[in-house]
This record gives sequence, C-alpha cells and structure tokens, in this order.
Amino acid sequence: MEINTWSLIVWLHVFAGIIWIGLLYYFNFVQVPAVAAATADSNGPGPAAISKYIAPPALAWFRWGALATWLTGAGALSYVGEFVPNMLFTNGITVIGIGAWLGTIMLFNVWGLIWPNQKKLLGMVEATDAQKATAKKVAFMASRTNTLLSIPMLMCMVGHGHGGLPF
Ligand code: HEM
Repeated sequence: MEINTWSLIVWLHVFAGIIWIGLLYYFNFVQVPAVAAATADSNGPGPAAISKYIAPPALAWFRWGALATWLTGAGALSYVGEFVPNMLFTNGITVIGIGAWLGTIMLFNVWGLIWPNQKKLLGMVEATDAQKATAKKVAFMASRTNTLLSIPMLMCMVGHGHGGLPF
C-alpha cells in the first residue's frame, strides 16, 4: 500500500480540527450556559466540579488541538509549495488563503487571549478579583469571536476542495 502523504496530512488536519472546533462549540453552546445555570441555582451543587474536573482537560485538548490543526494545515500547504503564496496572496486572493488567515487569527485568540485568561480564572496563576473579572470578559469575547469566525473559516476550508463558497 502506498501512502498518499498529502491526503494523510489533510486527514490529520481535519481530525485535529474536529477536536479543536468541537471543543470550541462545547464551551460556547454547553459549558458556558451550564456554568451560568449552576451558579444561579442556589439549591444546586454549583459549578465547582465543572471548573475543577472538566474545564482543565477540555482546555488542554482545545489548545493543543488548535496548534495541531494549524501545524497540519500549514504543513499540507507547505507540502505542495502553496503556503507562502496563499498566505501572502501573491497569486491573488484565494479561498484557502482567506481560510488559513481566519484559522491563524483563531489560533492567536486561543493561545494569546483565551488560555492566558483561563489560567487566571481556574486559579493556575495568581490574580486579584478585578483581574479575574477582566480575564473573564476577554476570554469570553475571544471565544465568541472564534465561534463566529469558525463559520466563514470552515466554508473556506471545505470550499477549497468542493466547489467554492456557498454564496
Ligand atoms: C481553524 C481551524 C481549521 C479547521 C477546523 C480546518 C478544517 C479543515 C477541514 C474540515 C478541511 C477539509 C475540507 C474538505 O476536504 O472538504 C480542511 C482542509 C484544509 N485546510 Fe484547514 N482547517 C483549519 C485551519 C487551517 C489553516 C490555518 C490552514 C493553513 C495554514 C489550513 C489548510 C488546509 C488545507 C491545505 C486543506 C486541504 C484543502 C484541500 O483539500 O485541497 N487549515 N481544513
């Protein structure tokens, strides 16, 4: 059996991308509302177990999934000599170039905004109550931004190999 390296890299890319974006949607559609509901429920068990047992491993898979997605995506483009031309738009504006840039902005949001602020919220680094309040806002906005950006980003990823954008 001959290995098709390009297809293998793209498959790993899609696998990592599902881990990343699956957890992004879990945070936005499930965990954030669940923590709010648990906090508001004065007779319930509260959100402590979510913060202690679920959020840390979910965030670990999330941020390493994000890095793996970017590296395999950039690796796939580099493998066929298309990374620099698409990122610099030297051959015009391409669907995959726009998608790759959206993914790059999203990776920055994960490692530059969401993770450093989540570390403060989960007590992994020291922070005052005021710093935690700011951290919560920044992490939330960055996560919501990535959820919105994921829609055009996925349209570009899929559109590249399947007949362009849906509009
Ligand atoms: C932001 C997270 C990303 C996700 C969830 C994602 C997801 C996907 C998916 C689902 C496909 C398969 C499309 C299909 O065959 O229909 C794909 C293809 C691809 N992605 Fe991404 N991607 C992301 C970021 C990136 C980045 C940052 C790059 C490059 C720097 C990139 C480069 C590629 C390439 C080269 C392909 C193959 C396109 C082809 O089949 O010709 N991706 N991506």
